[in-house]
Amino acid sequence: MNSIRFFKEGIKNLRTVGTLTRSSKYLCRNMVSYVDFDKAKVIVELGAGDGVITRHILTHMAPDAKLLSFEVLDSMAAVLRHIEDDRLIVINDSAEQLGMYLKQYDLEAIDAVISAIPFVALPDELAYRIVGECKKYMKIGAPYIQVHYSLLAKKIYEDIFGDVKVHFVPLNVPPAFVLVARKQYEVLNQFSPNGEALH
Ligand SMILES: C[S@@+](CC[C@H](N)C(=O)[O-])C[C@H]1O[C@@H](n2cnc3c(N)ncnc32)[C@H](O)[C@@H]1O
Repeated sequence: MNSIRFFKEGIKNLRTVGTLTRSSKYLCRNMVSYVDFDKAKVIVELGAGDGVITRHILTHMAPDAKLLSFEVLDSMAAVLRHIEDDRLIVINDSAEQLGMYLKQYDLEAIDAVISAIPFVALPDELAYRIVGECKKYMKIGAPYIQVHYSLLAKKIYEDIFGDVKVHFVPLNVPPAFVLVARKQYEVLNQFSPNGEALH
């Protein structure tokens, strides 16, 4: 998919896509830099779009690793499916279904999550559910890496993971923040904004 087509898909589905431009190579490089590719065997990507970050992840991934890339829009998922790589599993479904697909593909704990889902534009309840689901299946120490264009959603990751590091990437349109959290330990009292326990 070229940038003009991505722009058109962005306009058609603005709340879902959250931007009109795909991530720059500087942003992609920054996002993958927090993954320990020597050890990572199961990587999950959320909101893969037309695959710009997906390709960066695959370039660094070990030959025996697997990448589960979620993309909810059919038009974007169709483009992702053109990437010929046996390590890539494209899931044309919402990231909420993570647990079901991990089971289906017989994948165990996750070594890293890289997400570009525009949680700022989505209901809080859905954001907490998806990020909480990721944490449930992540290994202790695994990074959760999220791109945003503002820090409005930072609280979601603080509530779920505790500490969140923020990295600024100016060479992107628009300039972006990469938020990195790690699964430290099991938090027993985990609540969504309306006070319901997450799990
Ligand atoms: C900002 S775009 C990112 C595209 C690409 N990864 C990039 O960095 O340029 C966000 C993508 O997340 C997808 N998305 C939104 N909600 C989703 C969900 N619940 N599950 C999976 N993908 C979702 C959108 O369709 C869109 O393609």
